[in-house]
Amino acid sequence: MNIVDIILDKRYGRALSYEQIMYFVDGVTDRSIPDYQISALLMAIVLNGMDEREMTSLTLEMADSGEHADLSYVGDITVDKHSTGGVGDKITPLVMPLCRSFGAKIVKLSGRGLGFTGGTVDKFSSIRGFNVDVPKTDFPRLVNECGMVISGQTPDLAPADKILYALRDVTGTVDSIPLIASSIMSKKIAGGADAIVLDVTCGSGAFMQTEERARELANAMIKIGRLAQKKTSAVITDMDQPLGRTCGNVIEMEEVYETLSGNGASDVVEVATAIGARMVKLAGKAGDYSDDDLINECRLRLGNGVARDEYLKLVRSQGGIINDNGPEYVDRPHVIGEVKAPRDGFVGAIRADEIGHASVLLGAGRIRKDDAIDLGAGIRFLAKRGDEVHKGDTLCVLYIGNNSSLTPDSEKYEEISERIANAYTITADKPEVKRSVIDVLGDQ
Ligand code: URA
Repeated sequence: MNIVDIILDKRYGRALSYEQIMYFVDGVTDRSIPDYQISALLMAIVLNGMDEREMTSLTLEMADSGEHADLSYVGDITVDKHSTGGVGDKITPLVMPLCRSFGAKIVKLSGRGLGFTGGTVDKFSSIRGFNVDVPKTDFPRLVNECGMVISGQTPDLAPADKILYALRDVTGTVDSIPLIASSIMSKKIAGGADAIVLDVTCGSGAFMQTEERARELANAMIKIGRLAQKKTSAVITDMDQPLGRTCGNVIEMEEVYETLSGNGASDVVEVATAIGARMVKLAGKAGDYSDDDLINECRLRLGNGVARDEYLKLVRSQGGIINDNGPEYVDRPHVIGEVKAPRDGFVGAIRADEIGHASVLLGAGRIRKDDAIDLGAGIRFLAKRGDEVHKGDTLCVLYIGNNSSLTPDSEKYEEISERIANAYTITADKPEVKRSVIDVLGDQ
């Protein structure tokens, strides 16, 4: 077997055999195939696609390229969740304690943010003292003590994906359903959970810009999950505007606490209850609740203090400091400026990708994986899609942390505020109301 024949097969649109895929993934992992040949095959996959069998073989081989986590110490069904990425996505810190309140045990491995998508690990590291680098040997103790643990992803999980993803990032080969599906599902399968709930985002702030593409990706991942004997569900959610009232790190964790205290934004509550309910169901903890009753119960527990108590247990168990007002944060965001409505009308759209890029420029995210970030930086949205605004009203407030060198009179700040202003479309007519949860697919 040789890699040139494999590239040619895919270039001419032929399906690859299991042996060819295994040869490729082995050669990626042991670095015997050079980057230029890997990249050529990736581009051929982008252009000519993969069928279900190829996609599943690729995923399972990538999952087998490193360790498989053994979660048997949990002693119960384990459910994992994953979002395909978004701006203002603070769903994981909400659904972990929510599911725990039904008795589910959650082991969550999360990533740091890269590009305009925020990372759950960065968000938790905004809490003073919270340890996001938990050694694997401590997981059983933490799950035993508090029923939940969250930590950064270990490098030994699906190492082939790391090599492929880094190359995809610089060769224009990220946007491909077989490559995205295999990348995500290889990590989830190696992560060892029995069931997986996928938040498949669609819109301007997501990989999948249309609902049709999001459904295609969701169905591909559900099929892979089932072939790997994992119960798999997908919730298709709207990412045509940032989720909730904030994006950043400290300010998003403040919003998490507000949500858990009964003052959640409607889109955040809708998405968190849909995903939480699916996770509770797949964990086998839904009891006699009907689907609708379970959603209602999730909504209730999210806001009535039940999930908040579990959240505080999680914060405490990983070293986070809590004062009378809730968790303490490593920085105090302070206002650097505001973006105002240019005319009267309604907010028709807020380009989530543009907001995400602007928040990276503010300091809240990374362009390269080793960049330092300003956990205090972020944006608070005072007007969201459908809201009526008058000329001069504040659309959003921009924040930076204590150590930021950004000043309001700098060219950089001007670029950021202009970018944010351009992300808003103000329309004369009230736009149609869109739901945040578009559909729920897959296993129940
Ligand atoms: N997230 C991943 O982990 N992989 C992709 O390819 C895209 C999003």
